[in-house]
Amino acid sequence: MAPLTSIRTSNGKLEIVNQLLLPHTTEYIDINTIEEAHDAIKTMKIRGAPAIASLAALSLSFHISNALAATPSPEFLTSPESLKTYVEPILSFLYTARPTAVNLGAATRRLSKKLQTSFVAGTDVRTIAQQLADEGKLIADEDVGRNEEMSKWGGDWLLKRVGDEGSASGLNVLTVCNTGSLATSGYGTALGLITYLHESGKLDKAYYTQTAPYHQGSRLTALELQTLKIPSVMICDTMVGSLFQHYKIHAVAVGADRIARNGDTANKIGTYNAAVLAARHGIPFIVVAPISTVDLDVADGSGIPIEQRPPLEACLVRGALYTGAGDATNEQAVVMITPRGLDGIYNPSFDVTPAELITAIVTEKGVAVKKPGEVTFDLSGIV
Ligand code: MRU
Repeated sequence: MAPLTSIRTSNGKLEIVNQLLLPHTTEYIDINTIEEAHDAIKTMKIRGAPAIASLAALSLSFHISNALAATPSPEFLTSPESLKTYVEPILSFLYTARPTAVNLGAATRRLSKKLQTSFVAGTDVRTIAQQLADEGKLIADEDVGRNEEMSKWGGDWLLKRVGDEGSASGLNVLTVCNTGSLATSGYGTALGLITYLHESGKLDKAYYTQTAPYHQGSRLTALELQTLKIPSVMICDTMVGSLFQHYKIHAVAVGADRIARNGDTANKIGTYNAAVLAARHGIPFIVVAPISTVDLDVADGSGIPIEQRPPLEACLVRGALYTGAGDATNEQAVVMITPRGLDGIYNPSFDVTPAELITAIVTEKGVAVKKPGEVTFDLSGIV
């Protein structure tokens, strides 16, 4: 079975798979408006840094394409000025859906720049609108090819680093959250690296944390690995230390939502814990992400905005009803696992792993490592 992708575009329709219902129910939702795209991102029906940027870009692209095809033509297509006045607030609105992943801001800024350049060039309104729609599609399409590139860079680098140690039985790699085809436009970043090792016959097992409270690991990564027939082992988030004590793990590979200029990296909550433990056990810790995830405007991790999710989300577990026979029904359930009315709940969606704990940052351009004796990266040269 082909891996699930988060976004489907066919017959002029923009749809996403509702990730809140996976793995037991595969439901596609139509995204007909900018508001629906914003809501899907905010409520995490779609999530993962590249995927949310792709949806934002595509929602504008579809909106403009539909407007271009409509008769009578909507008012905002009267002049370049009216188009600009109409589109700029849409881009600002989409940008507010989630704050940590830089990709969303990078996509909206890129569309804004495209609009500005065409505007200054004095092109007619329909041409500007078409260019904007094309740019939106391009943002989504670019993701797959670069994921394959970074996965190969990272996989080959790791094989070289591990050398003979892993060659006999293959490598064991731990990952956090979900960075596969559901989080991107296809193939994945850290999960792409794992897939590449598997396809090269060099992977023993993929290990992944459940990734509470949203359970991207146990719901989404589990499903992707199962679909790809990659041998894998799920662990609870609390078991990383135990895993490192009792099993030979060759690397930890994670994605990123934003990487500061010095290499400090924001990723799903729990990533920092895994990095501290990896350092303690001398296990290489690899961040795999597109160049666009590097935010040169942010000097270090203290400047990365960390999204706080609604407290209630940490009290709930989502899934399908269990039949008691090792199986589940398709009936969805949301279960509260805390007493009602808890007043103290800390629920950050991401944490920052300091560069010091990161062995390598892998992008589609190659592998960045720190200079000998340094504790941070200088990423200004790779963007
Ligand atoms: O809250 P989420 O599920 O959007 O968080 C996702 C992650 O932290 C991913 O690791 C990151 O976005 C990289 S996805 C290729």
